[in-house]
Amino acid sequence: DWIMGDYIAEAVAKIKAQVGDEEVILGLSGGVDSSVAAALIHRAIGDQLTCVFVDHGLLRLNEGDLVMDMFAGRLHVNVIRVDATNQFMGHLTGVSDPEAKRKIIGREFVEVFKAEAAKLKAGTGGHKGATFLAQGTIYPDVIESGGAKSKKAVTIKSHHNVGGLPEQLGLKLLEPLRDLFKDEVRELGVALGLPADMVYRHPFPGPGLGVRILGEIKQEYADLLRRADAIFIEELRNTKDEATGKTWYELTSQAFTVFLPVKSVGVMGDGRTYDYVVALRAVITSDFMTAHWAELPYALLGRVSNRIINEVRGINRVVYDVSGKPPATIEWE
Ligand code: XMP
Repeated sequence: DWIMGDYIAEAVAKIKAQVGDEEVILGLSGGVDSSVAAALIHRAIGDQLTCVFVDHGLLRLNEGDLVMDMFAGRLHVNVIRVDATNQFMGHLTGVSDPEAKRKIIGREFVEVFKAEAAKLKAGTGGHKGATFLAQGTIYPDVIESGGAKSKKAVTIKSHHNVGGLPEQLGLKLLEPLRDLFKDEVRELGVALGLPADMVYRHPFPGPGLGVRILGEIKQEYADLLRRADAIFIEELRNTKDEATGKTWYELTSQAFTVFLPVKSVGVMGDGRTYDYVVALRAVITSDFMTAHWAELPYALLGRVSNRIINEVRGINRVVYDVSGKPPATIEWE
């Protein structure tokens, strides 16, 4: 019998023993793994933990504020929020190749994080300096880096990971979730007091909206996309499937909106519009290696489309992606 309370007590004791009176840095992304790692480590060592939350400007609507409200506001975790939007946008100007965008976002992310970590390592007012870097590595990540991944002959997309960072920073590694599967991490998160809707969120890629804005990334595109995507996700969360009693957010594995930088003609009132197009993507998958497009109800799609076109000035057309993986990928880039 695996009882979560006992598990937490044991994990907390282990972290305390490993860290002693030293200090820990953790890169908080708002994703499930780093969030649960932060909550667990905070439970163990409180103020000896400092989280660094890098906002690259490619997050979902209000995400930065939500992360801060949750961790700094509710859980009283030390969190440093770094708004690096301008730095990221600057480096991404004129870049439209998907892999080039991924590499820039990954590289800048590491740069920004390293600069903050170096400050924390040096120590400041009241802090003697961090010696540990915590990461939300989970068991499937451990297996993946152990060679299973090398079976894949071609890299279709380079997923940026922050391997090698502890060595580069001269910090010891703390990975309290290393033995857990994703569903166990989620249960742990709920037991630690994280809200279920945060812990059961769809996965969000590291490069964020950077791979959901096709081609060159512009601030204007990111702002339009954020608002359209928030409407789609809200409707998925608010619409239940009669047969299962579950929401369409729960029934899909991943759902999001993609910004297409093409304009099409529309009509509004007496006038003609010439505005952007967004695509809705929703998939059902168990491993993200293959995926089916979700058969969302027409009424739901219609509501989402009406709301986006009425509420987001600058978008006048919404399309639904009916491509499986393979041959399409889940993301559009
Ligand atoms: P694709 O688009 O390759 O995506 O079918 C499979 C899963 O991986 C996610 N994904 C990423 N995650 N960095 C990430 O952290 C990335 O660059 C990246 N690209 C794709 C995607 O969201 C889906 O869940």
